[in-house]
Amino acid sequence: MQRTLVILKPDAMHRRMIGRIIQRFEDKGLKPVAMKMMRMTPELAARHYGEHKGKPFYEPLLKFITSAPVVVLVLEAPAAVDMARRMVGPTFGAEAPAGTIRGDLTLSNRYNLVHASDGPASAEREIARFFRHDEICPWTPCDTTWISEQPWDDL
Ligand code: CMP
Repeated sequence: MQRTLVILKPDAMHRRMIGRIIQRFEDKGLKPVAMKMMRMTPELAARHYGEHKGKPFYEPLLKFITSAPVVVLVLEAPAAVDMARRMVGPTFGAEAPAGTIRGDLTLSNRYNLVHASDGPASAEREIARFFRHDEICPWTPCDTTWISEQPWDDL
């Protein structure tokens, strides 16, 4: 099992797409184990996007991400990090393939609706950045076997 951090950005809020985007992850079988709506502070935004400091889009990105609330989720599944990245699609909406969240729902570079951790180490760091340990709620959905295992050999 693996966990990843997903952020639904201010454009997802403004465009009323929160439900639709979460639905995609739910449909696939990525299990939410934590979720909250919050307004990112400039300090938190700077920490989260620290690797982009100095790039031309850095300051506008901080302004954008702190401009309205975001919804932050921890999703769990086998290979959740890669799977969420593939579902989200490449950064630039106009180039993202159809079938991905960005490919289906946005044209923009900056306003690309969703952030998903880019590797297991950053997932761990980012989850700890947004959630206390006691905000994570482990649970087992009743359909787990049918979604994430290969039951046919057992029938
Ligand atoms: P995200 O996957 O959250 O990682 C960094 C974010 O910076 C990215 O999504 C976009 O929102 C933004 N970003 C990356 N490249 C550009 C760019 N060339 N122009 C504007 N925004 C960008």
